[in-house]
Amino acid sequence: MPDTSNTPDIVIFGGTGDLVMRKLLPSLYRLHVYKLLDPATRIVGTARSKLDRDQYLATATEAARNFLGKDFKDDVWAEFAQRIDYAPVDAREAHSFNALSQALAVRLAPRVFYLSTAPNLFSDICRNLSDNGMITPGSRVILEKPLGFDLASSQAINDEVGAHFAEDHIFRIDHYLGKEPVQNLMALRFGNSLFEPLWRREWIRDVQITVAERIGVGSRGEFYNETGALRDMVQNHILQTLCIVAMEPPASIAPDAVRDEKLKVLRALRPIAASEVPQVTVRGQYKAGVIDGQAVKGYLQEEGIPADSRTETFVAIKAEIDSWRWAGVPFFLRTGKCMQDRVTEIVINFRSVPHSIFAHGALKNYTNRLVIQMQPYETVKLHMMGKEPGDDMNLEPVTLDLDFREAFQRRQLEAYERLLMDSLRGKLTLFVRRDEQEAAWRWVEPILDAWAASPDKPKPYNAGTWGPAASSALVGREGLSWHEES
Ligand code: BG6
Repeated sequence: MPDTSNTPDIVIFGGTGDLVMRKLLPSLYRLHVYKLLDPATRIVGTARSKLDRDQYLATATEAARNFLGKDFKDDVWAEFAQRIDYAPVDAREAHSFNALSQALAVRLAPRVFYLSTAPNLFSDICRNLSDNGMITPGSRVILEKPLGFDLASSQAINDEVGAHFAEDHIFRIDHYLGKEPVQNLMALRFGNSLFEPLWRREWIRDVQITVAERIGVGSRGEFYNETGALRDMVQNHILQTLCIVAMEPPASIAPDAVRDEKLKVLRALRPIAASEVPQVTVRGQYKAGVIDGQAVKGYLQEEGIPADSRTETFVAIKAEIDSWRWAGVPFFLRTGKCMQDRVTEIVINFRSVPHSIFAHGALKNYTNRLVIQMQPYETVKLHMMGKEPGDDMNLEPVTLDLDFREAFQRRQLEAYERLLMDSLRGKLTLFVRRDEQEAAWRWVEPILDAWAASPDKPKPYNAGTWGPAASSALVGREGLSWHEES
């Protein structure tokens, strides 16, 4: 018999929630299918609902059938489901942890506690786990976003959780770090010598990070209205992506080597003063429009949204990094709901040649641009100049196109699969450290404060467009434009 005493079990708080049904259980199922989940690992769902195991499994099975589509196989699911158990727990009631404690006591393994509840329950959950002696040696905790509403609330959460778990046992999720293309960006930058000499202010004119979604707020209106795009997307996903673009080469891939370098980027982000906020940020809110030929309602008409809401569904920011590598290079960040296209990409625009040897106008369409697209397709495109066939020396942009799915023809792990696997194996590199998270809040908070204090409303934009005109103007003021292919 193999020794499984160090193989963790996973306990999911908020176990009946949408994320668990839509992402976590399907991801664990896929890890099971691909033999990436240790056979000894058990999965215990917990929530307030007084369900028994069969009832919980019935709900989970139906959801999995839905979300896994053709990957769902009855016999494989039945085998996977043997790992699953359920214990009702009211996070605020110490005594209600007994059932969970008993369900886990079957073996004394380390436990991975996944907190997929509202963050105001994190403190009670951790204290009750601790008081009930359930935090066995090697146990760790995964924290799902949103991790706070501002710096103070995120510090409070970190203090509460930190009272029971050491920092190197806390796995803060940012699912963007689990995306294969984000890791590929590290591979591209640090696995090749080609880019590094060019990856600096001398050669790069500007960087653009776009996360555009076609979807609106859907059924999450109430949550979203309290949150807005800056908290929902920029504070975490976009700033983490920016860190990977901008960080210095870490000494190794070890968690703190990488996270130290990301932290330096966050600390070097130039603070945006309240007086500058109107010039270097744009906040927008979608109005009714058309996406893919379908009429889409405006944000203010969505369910759960007050008619006078000032919540932003679009943000664009000109950020700057005060470092020798990046001084003077604008980083344009933007994200929005109900946009023209679904695209997540990083665009690196290189500077012009210092002197043209060609006839006047031969370089008029000059493009030296690296486009790292993460969604919907994972591609890296290098747009550069080449000679147009013919008598004249006319130069036109040509594209070197690398399609990662074509190139590797192998199934990629989805973000939650990767992050669940890493947390079960205790690998912290792709999780956010407390100081990083707090540095990110420190940078976004003055923007939030300035917006809250301003009499201006978010700028309207039609659903199905690239956002308010002010977003083009933000980039246009630097003589630039957003990279938009459609
Ligand atoms: C989540 C946000 O963190 O990321 C959502 O809360 C957003 O509002 C989602 O839709 C986007 O993730 P992805 O992986 O679809 O780009």
